This record gives sequence, C-alpha cells and structure tokens, in this order.
Amino acid sequence: MKKIAVLVSGGGTNLQALIDAQGRGEIVNGQIAAVIASKPGAYALERAARAGIPGYVMARKDWPDSRAYTVALRDRLKELDIDLVVLAGFMIILTEELVEAYPNAILNVHPALIPSFCGEGFYGLHVHEKALEYGVKVSGATVHFVSAECDGGPIVLQKAVPVEENDTPETLQRRIMEQAEWKLLPRAVSLFCQDRLRVEGRTVHILD
Ligand code: GAR
Repeated sequence: MKKIAVLVSGGGTNLQALIDAQGRGEIVNGQIAAVIASKPGAYALERAARAGIPGYVMARKDWPDSRAYTVALRDRLKELDIDLVVLAGFMIILTEELVEAYPNAILNVHPALIPSFCGEGFYGLHVHEKALEYGVKVSGATVHFVSAECDGGPIVLQKAVPVEENDTPETLQRRIMEQAEWKLLPRAVSLFCQDRLRVEGRTVHILD
C-alpha cells in the first residue's frame, strides 16, 4: 500500500475529491496518510480532520527562503515515509530538492491544458482570467509529474472542457473542477499507486 501526502494551500476541493474517491475504494493500493497545508487557516485542514487524516501546517513564512522551506518539507515527507506527493492547489513554488527526493513521484493538478496558460504566475483564478482574456473556446485540466521546471513535467492525464458564452473566471473554474480536475486527479493517483504509470522521456505510458 502506497502512502500518499496531499499538499494544499486553500479550500481543498481537490483534496475532497481524493478523500471521496478513497471512500469509494477508487484509490487502489494507496492511502492518504497526511495533508500538509502551507497556510494555518486553510479549509482543506478541516476536510482532512473530518476524514480522520493527520493534518500538518508548514507555513511558508516560518522559513527564510523557498529552498529552506522545500528542504524542511522534504524532510517531513521522508519522516512520514511518504511514497507519493500530490500538489492539490498548493500555491508555493518549490526548489529542486523535493523533485530530487521524489523523482516522478510528485503529481500536480493544473487548471488548464498545459502547455497553455501555465508557468509562473498562472495559478488559481488567474489561469481562468487569462484563458478568457485570450478568448479560447476550450480549456481544461492537466495532471502531470512535477519536474524542476514549473508546470513542465511529463503529462499523465488531460481533459478538455468547453468555454461558454458569458463565462466568468469563477464559472469557468467551477466547470473545469467538476468536469475535469476532480475526476483526473483521483484517477492519476490510483494509477500511480498501482504502478501503472511508466515515464519515457516526456511521455507517460499508462499500463493495462
Ligand atoms: C485548483 O483549480 C487547482 O487546479 C489550482 O488551484 C485550485 C485549487 O482549488 N492549482 C493551481 O493553479 C496550481 N498551479 P482547491 O484548493 O479547491 O483544490
């Protein structure tokens, strides 16, 4: 059984999707063992507590720089004996120490079709603002392995979602969460836990 840590910064609806999937037995060979929040008041911590999952706060401001923060985070994850790290609305950019400790074992969910609307500065609602500004007719979500490059790691799953007339960043965000993120993330986590993801260069093969 693989031990999963979910890293969060805010509301935690993607964490909830993982908790619900686990409750339905859809995270095969995996168990959410810890939730780590980068902000003390994150609502995601309440979701974890309700599900009986240990929650930890590691506030970014308690460390002098992002390298020191990343190293502390890595050490905590290793102490907890974590096999898979899931970034679920985790809004802190980490340095390479975490990727080196968890090569192809960190999954991130991004609310757009990478390589569109991604990279530094593209997070949360901003992503949807930029997509609407650009006038795209389709957006979506991506689950990818985390590499040293921001939003640049091998893609595991993607799903397209239509943009509708009169969409606001909020309505588009909600549709993308409901139709894509909350489905893709649990599926990708379950595939990882079953050792069904094989990375070859930039391509992730899904094994039967
Ligand atoms: C989600 O839409 C997630 O894809 C996005 O933030 C939201 C968090 O919502 N993540 C990023 O933008 C990371 N670059 P949640 O806390 O309700 O899961």
